[in-house]
Amino acid sequence: MRTAKIRKVESETEHAKTFYFEDKICASAEPGQFIMLWVPGVDEIPLSLSSVNNNIVSVTVKEVGEGTKALNRMKQGEVVGVRGPFGTHYKIAGKTALVVGGGIGTAPLMLLTSRLLKAKVKTTVVEGAKTRSDLLFVKQLTKTQEEANLKVVFTTDDGSYGTRGFATDAAEKIISKRYIDAVYACGNEAMTLKVYRLAEKYETPLQASLERFMFCAIGICGSCVIGKYRVCKDGPVFDQTQLKEVENELGKMKRDFKGERVRV
Ligand SMILES: Cc1cc2nc3c(=O)[nH]c(=O)nc-3n(C[C@H](O)[C@H](O)[C@H](O)COP(=O)(O)OP(=O)(O)OC[C@H]3O[C@@H](n4cnc5c(N)ncnc54)[C@H](O)[C@@H]3O)c2cc1C
Ligand code: FES
Repeated sequence: MRTAKIRKVESETEHAKTFYFEDKICASAEPGQFIMLWVPGVDEIPLSLSSVNNNIVSVTVKEVGEGTKALNRMKQGEVVGVRGPFGTHYKIAGKTALVVGGGIGTAPLMLLTSRLLKAKVKTTVVEGAKTRSDLLFVKQLTKTQEEANLKVVFTTDDGSYGTRGFATDAAEKIISKRYIDAVYACGNEAMTLKVYRLAEKYETPLQASLERFMFCAIGICGSCVIGKYRVCKDGPVFDQTQLKEVENELGKMKRDFKGERVRV
């Protein structure tokens, strides 16, 4: 493990912040890869990289429990521990892309979107959240939409911003037009399962990032298994063939911190 000093902290929503730090090794990360971030004295947690600019990288963190709450209290100048980057990554394919993000799942998709635009892929981002205050990166995505070849659709379950409904409803409207070459997804597993079914229905290749409890992050402890795969090493980004192999667990079962099977 190495240490990194927090360079900048930006608030994204009431419960989510982006932390920037300098790390040469993370700067080589591909979109979808994650790091294990040690919050001193509290816990080590898996987090996706949300941006990479020269040697400055970021993670965007939503508070859910002790580790994420402690991290979100940290300030510029404080030091965290870093391991990684780990795991597989999204692979850019085709000329038209649909990126589907749910809530904090949008974090790794920000790095992916910037790489898609760099590769001149015509990209549409659909981001969904329960309500306006849970939508992340609204300013950044809106600004990129104005400056680059990007279309953005925001959805909220309660209609407080963008289109009322689920991200998957908006995604289906786009996928069903059959001009999309590749779909990329990250969000809660119920959303991922729906996107997987859409990709199957409209025969469009999908890559999706999954989440499981992680301890070692290097394929040893087994806490992150789904079917025959370890999410830390074989994932977190899986292609459609792999998702098909774990279809009966997707959105249904995971292992808790004791290794017991629980509902997702
Ligand atoms: C590959 C990967 C990438 C991730 N990227 C991000 C990211 O970019 N930003 C972000 O905010 N979060 C991300 N997460 C989720 C993040 O790791 C968990 O929210 C965090 O570990 C929770 O720690 P905690 O101590 O705050 O909560 P805990 O006290 O450990 O748990 C609080 C609640 O969160 C749930 N939880 C804990 N760990 C996970 C997990 N790994 N997956 C799903 N639910 C969990 C628990 O069931 C519990 O309900 C990622 C997870 C993985 C596996
Ligand atoms: S976290 Fe230990 S095997 Fe994946």
